[in-house]
Amino acid sequence: MKTKNIVVFASGTGSNFKALHQAALKKEVPARITALISDNPNAGALDYARDHGIRDVVLPPSSFGEADGYLQKLQEILDRESPSLIVLAGYLKKIPDEIVEKYKRKIINIHPALLPKYGGKGWYGIKVHRAVIENGDEESGCTVHYVTNNYDEGPVIAQARVPVRKDDTAEQLAERVLKQEHLLYPKVVRFLLSHS
Ligand code: GAR
Repeated sequence: MKTKNIVVFASGTGSNFKALHQAALKKEVPARITALISDNPNAGALDYARDHGIRDVVLPPSSFGEADGYLQKLQEILDRESPSLIVLAGYLKKIPDEIVEKYKRKIINIHPALLPKYGGKGWYGIKVHRAVIENGDEESGCTVHYVTNNYDEGPVIAQARVPVRKDDTAEQLAERVLKQEHLLYPKVVRFLLSHS
């Protein structure tokens, strides 16, 4: 299978980014991660990128005086990398509409819940798992979906489910869901790259 270029965006630890990179190294995913973009200068994902020779780009919101600076910078990078797929892996800043339009069906995101439940602006990370437990849901999971102009609303590509146990803490549930994310995301990226 021909290897294609992908660009990953991450704001935090970067465990999904790492899982994708490891799957690519093992040739389980026909991808070369050419760049890691982060809005957070302290993101663990950046350390991983630097340790593994992946070009890293830091775009902290504070560095943009004018409203369009972020958009222009993103456009420049994406034009240069010309990725077959853009993979959001825990990226918390909104992707500008112009980029979503230009890369229609080429930007995907992973979310730690069974969308459409617990999705939308403000729903991320541990907050999601706390709400799942408070609501007494019997199952949760993760969703990979295409990115559109509205947070977490794009068409669903795949989901993985996990049980919610009676005595679960949000942290325990988060860990169970994250394990599934690390399996699901590489599978979806592999599928999409081999059908693009
Ligand atoms: C993941 O659980 C991902 O699903 C979530 O952020 C975490 C990033 O972890 N994304 C969202 O909540 C998006 N709304 P990671 O940095 O270890 O990959």
